[in-house]
Amino acid sequence: ILYSAFATVLAYLMGSIPFAIIVSKLFGLQDPRQFGSGNPGATNVLRSGNKKAAALTLIGDAFKGWLAVFIAQQLFTHYSTTIAIVAIAVFLGHIYSLFLHFKGGKGVATAIGVLLALSPLLALSLIIIWVLMAVLFRYSSLAAIVAAAAAPLLYLQLYSYHLNNAYLATIAFISIVLIYKHKTNIQKLLTGQESKIGAKKK
Ligand code: G3P
Repeated sequence: ILYSAFATVLAYLMGSIPFAIIVSKLFGLQDPRQFGSGNPGATNVLRSGNKKAAALTLIGDAFKGWLAVFIAQQLFTHYSTTIAIVAIAVFLGHIYSLFLHFKGGKGVATAIGVLLALSPLLALSLIIIWVLMAVLFRYSSLAAIVAAAAAPLLYLQLYSYHLNNAYLATIAFISIVLIYKHKTNIQKLLTGQESKIGAKKK
């Protein structure tokens, strides 16, 4: 139990590392909290016009999610509850970052990283859904919302014969928080004010 608690705290700290802000600083770009949606995430870094910085943000935020869960899987092989708690901790670390006064991103990239470790098949299916939605409608937020809504259902479908309830609960929790974090985006989508992928900052 002590090890599990330690792993959870470590995962939260890993999740707290804000790659959008670090990468933007390294590239000499404006802080992503000061333009566009104000969100420290890859989509908003892309609004700076720097694709490389956006890609690095996406990779960094996804990688920390994957790494935290991967390490937990090595250390706590048969304890899926501990692995699930670590997954939630790294995800919440990104959204409620210790280094950003408990503010943070919306969790899309980190959720994908977490899922790549929990269930690569589910993660890849969701990436396909995200890309399809993004290509069709050109809204990053809409693509994320649709993929998040699909995630628990798809997990149930893919693993109906050997369901892991801890993982199912984790995926459902992550999806709900992720959609909740997109409430401003949902309002903007409904009123036609959401900015499309590739649109530069104003
Ligand atoms: O990755 C977050 C994305 O779904 C929405 O970001 O900056 O358009 O609010 P943003």
